[in-house]
Amino acid sequence: MTIAIIGTGIAGLSAAGALHAAGLDVQLFDKSRGSGGRMACTRKDFGAIDIGAQYFTSRDRRFADAVQHWRSLGWVDEWKPSLYDFADGQLRPSQDEQVRWIGTPRMSSITRGLLGDLPVRFSCRITEVFHGKENWHLQSAEGESFGPFSHVVVATPPHQAAPLLAAAPKLASTAAGVTMEPVWAVALAFDQPLDTPVEGCFAHDSAIDWLARNRDKPGRAGKPDIWTLNASSRWSRQHLDLDKEAVIEQLHGLFAEQIGCAVPPPTFAHAHRWLYARPAASHEWGALADPDLGLYVCGDWCLSGRVEGAWLSGQEAARKLLQHHTR
Ligand code: FAD
Ligand code: NAI
Repeated sequence: MTIAIIGTGIAGLSAAGALHAAGLDVQLFDKSRGSGGRMACTRKDFGAIDIGAQYFTSRDRRFADAVQHWRSLGWVDEWKPSLYDFADGQLRPSQDEQVRWIGTPRMSSITRGLLGDLPVRFSCRITEVFHGKENWHLQSAEGESFGPFSHVVVATPPHQAAPLLAAAPKLASTAAGVTMEPVWAVALAFDQPLDTPVEGCFAHDSAIDWLARNRDKPGRAGKPDIWTLNASSRWSRQHLDLDKEAVIEQLHGLFAEQIGCAVPPPTFAHAHRWLYARPAASHEWGALADPDLGLYVCGDWCLSGRVEGAWLSGQEAARKLLQHHTR
């Protein structure tokens, strides 16, 4: 019998891949028009912009092995930016030995590759997950029903997971108790390249805590000169309901102060508000599960709020399911 997986971010696709590799059938669902979740890109005439995750690191051996495999498939490449740090109003070079990875030619290449030919329904927001006499069934916001399924894996941010976990109140209350921080992400494009050696910059105690030059990332050469900015969670929370134009204007001004070179008005600008960008704290759950019911929950918030944490959480959900299934 088929396993339903709700969410096609890296966690859901990690679980789907492991279950499929074990010979089980999966059916994926996502409310968005494509896969990737917070690793998604926004597509423009001049190319795709990484408006979510900017890069990732691998510290766990299992994830490192997966990244090497993705590299052999051409989905990822190492990114070696000229890094800076902005603190106390000063911009300083800040190189380090950390290996950083990036999807090529865009971040979403990884999730697209992982999805492959697996069956998926996009633009399908699941609103209810319920257990009938023997099996699971799903209901969508559009009024469609899906099922029967032997198991369900919920791979969404916690506040979107909680209402889907009504059959397992303990799991639902754990998910509901997780605090996620928002992030405003902005992309600015300039016809003339900015005159700066900065390719990536961390900042501390600043409204913009990360900025990066898109065209210096592997596979993204070309015009215009696009920069991605991530506002800090603090600034994002304080400006949660600001309209997009005002967010762009304010972050453009702060960017000009931070980058240390002349910054003209952008020829193109895009803002995206991530309401559930990152968990306020890390957890060590791996994945949540009610094995007797056949209900599993994964996502970055079950470990660390990073791409690696999300992938590992998906693996853990699959491992728990397979362990119980083959008992
Ligand atoms: P998600 O990617 O959020 O996937 C969940 C999926 O579930 C989504 O596709 C969503 O559409 C779907 N969904 C939700 N509810 C429903 C529903 N009811 N029905 C159907 N589908 C549903 N991490 C790093 O390691 N490095 C970085 O540099 C980095 N930068 C970041 C920058 C930003 C701006 C943001 C927002 C995140 C960043 N992260 C970074 C974090 C990283 O992107 C996440 O940890 C990771 O992508 C989370 O994956 P996930 O699968 O757990 O969740
Ligand atoms: P990492 O090891 O590159 O960075 C971790 C943190 O260490 C950075 O955020 C920065 O504060 C600091 N740091 C690292 N190298 C530095 C340097 N050379 N100079 C100055 N400071 C440096 O990557 P890791 O641990 O994989 O974290 C992933 C990244 O994803 C982090 O930057 C994190 O903030 C970011 N992230 C962003 C989210 C968002 O919504 N904006 C959500 C989740 C993660």
